[in-house]
Formats: sequence, C-alpha cells, structure tokens
Amino acid sequence: MFDVILYQPEIPPNTGNIIRLCANTGVRLHLVKPIGFSMDDKQLVRAGLDYHEFATISTYNDWAECAECFKDRRLFAVSTRGTRRYDQVDYTKDNVFLFGPETRGLPSTLLESFPVERRIRVPMRPESRSLNLSNAVAVIVYEAWRQLGFENGQ
Ligand SMILES: C[S@@+](CC[C@H](N)C(=O)[O-])C[C@H]1O[C@@H](n2cnc3c(N)ncnc32)[C@H](O)[C@@H]1O
Repeated sequence: MFDVILYQPEIPPNTGNIIRLCANTGVRLHLVKPIGFSMDDKQLVRAGLDYHEFATISTYNDWAECAECFKDRRLFAVSTRGTRRYDQVDYTKDNVFLFGPETRGLPSTLLESFPVERRIRVPMRPESRSLNLSNAVAVIVYEAWRQLGFENGQ
C-alpha cells in the first residue's frame, strides 16, 4: 500500500487522526522531525489509538534522511500550491504522498524540487485558504485507494 509522509507536523490531534486513518487503510506513516509534540502527548492518546497503530510509524531526523529512503519511489507533494488536481492522476500502490505542516505548508524549495506533475492539490473555493491536514490526507488516501478498487478492504 501507499506511504504517507508528514513533514514536521505540529498539531497532535491531526496526527492522531492520521495515525488512525493509516491503520484503517493499510497505509504506512512517516514523520519528519522536528515534530511539534511528543508521541505520548495526551491529545494523541486521547484519540484512542491502539498500540498496533503506533507501531507502524517511522520517524526521520530531517527531510534528507527521509528522502533517501524513498529515492526509488514515485513521490507526490500535496499542497494548496499544487499544479495538478489530485483526481487527474493514475495512482499505483507504491506511491508516496508528502504533506506539509499545519501553519506553514511545505517549504517552497521542497515543493519546487518536485516535478510539476507530481505537485497535487485538492480543489477549493477561490476564497479558501486550506483544508485541515488530516482531511487532506483522507481525501488523497481514499482517492488513491479507490483507484486500486479498495484492495484488501471490505
Ligand atoms: C493546513 S494546510 C497548510 C496551509 C498552508 N498555509 C499552505 O497553504 O500550504 C496543511 C497541509 O495540508 C495539505 N492541504 C491542505 N489543503 C490542501 C489542498 N486544498 N490541496 C492540497 N493539500 C492541502 C497540504 O499538505 C498542507 O501543507
């Protein structure tokens, strides 16, 4: 299944929701430090996560370390500044999705290091700023999984 990378996530309940989403869809979750909270933060625990859900998370000291692990994979940067609509891509199960932090989004230099066709966005009304991070992850993961016929889902 897919891999989701959260670049320097800041808000515990968002990561808690995403941990649960990944556990429910079979997606592996990766966190790039610095992370804005501790992994035993009360707000994460309050999301009611089970031990096995935490067990599938990998962490990286920085983007270079993370990027090295995925250098042979098809990565997409998911951003409000994406140039391609997320529903116009044919996804495959080895795809990797990189999301930005809640208050800042992905740094421009990182976003611009992706080819334009790998910078995807979820459409919004023109006056809108952004979706909640965990909602954006859910939209992308479910569209990609839908395209795979919800393989191993029921
Ligand atoms: C709260 S948003 C960050 C807002 C930031 N001001 C920006 O414009 O990127 C956190 C993350 O959710 C994802 N996101 C939110 N809305 C999105 C959208 N409409 N299209 C694609 N990604 C989105 C992106 O990965 C973004 O970095």
